[in-house]
Amino acid sequence: MNVASKLPNSPAALASQPLPSDKPPFLGFGLGLRADHYTEILEGNPPIDWFEIISENYMLPGGQPLRMLDRIRERYPIVMHGVSMSIASTAPPDFEYLQALRELAKRVEPKWISDHLCWTGVHGKNLHDLLPIPYTQEALDHVVSRVHLVQDYLGRPLVMENASTYVQFNNSDMTEWEFIAELTRRTGCWLLFDVNNVYVSAFNHGYDPHTFLAGIPEDRVVQFHMAGHSHMGTHIVDTHDHPVCEDVWDLYAAALKRFGHVSTMIERDDNIPPLDELLLEVNRTREIAGRVLPPFRQA
Ligand SMILES: [Fe+2]
Repeated sequence: MNVASKLPNSPAALASQPLPSDKPPFLGFGLGLRADHYTEILEGNPPIDWFEIISENYMLPGGQPLRMLDRIRERYPIVMHGVSMSIASTAPPDFEYLQALRELAKRVEPKWISDHLCWTGVHGKNLHDLLPIPYTQEALDHVVSRVHLVQDYLGRPLVMENASTYVQFNNSDMTEWEFIAELTRRTGCWLLFDVNNVYVSAFNHGYDPHTFLAGIPEDRVVQFHMAGHSHMGTHIVDTHDHPVCEDVWDLYAAALKRFGHVSTMIERDDNIPPLDELLLEVNRTREIAGRVLPPFRQA
């Protein structure tokens, strides 16, 4: 429902304020926060630099997850990652969702807020899937206007993630990486480069993932996602239920060489193993960055 005009501080009611333009900080090597690990984290203070939360899991007025998050955020930097902003949808923006997101951000004080470059539904229906968009000038203009609107509403630049895809549109007139490069240039949004998603989409559509990598501007990426997938022989499904595979580790090393020190995290959403097992993968991100890059120095 479009209730912009009824909400205080909605874009309809606010003159656009200049957004902060400072690049978000390098946080180090993190992990997606999952309920299975709350107790181990609070009791063991594991050596993880930061956590990413799924925003929608905490967009309730109270309850156990929010209480756990309050305690964890006292010890670790947090970033917020959403799955239902539906930034590319042609449905009116959902200001009830955006208001809840803004309220959560007030409480959590995340280092940044990210979501996917996709759409998740129309006509009030959420398909709970990250759906692909045609890479056309018309779609780009539409997404640019939506990103501007959301950034103005939240009062901060968004961080947009490349989704994994399984189909392409015949009417696309640019590549995904050209679309993303134009989006960040025209909106000032930052980029979450999901290394696994690039690998998955490149395999599914038959292009070289390094071509994608080379097409993304060097100075706009502030986060990497690393995840596992399911290889079905003819195609790959982005299941997040396996450890990261060797090809994706190699692509990560290449991404580090191009983008430099970028906050990196392991995403596991299914088949969630004990925390120690994921710590091994977090340590591997740290080890590869240490091998590929000079030591990080604060600018
Ligand atoms: Fe991701």
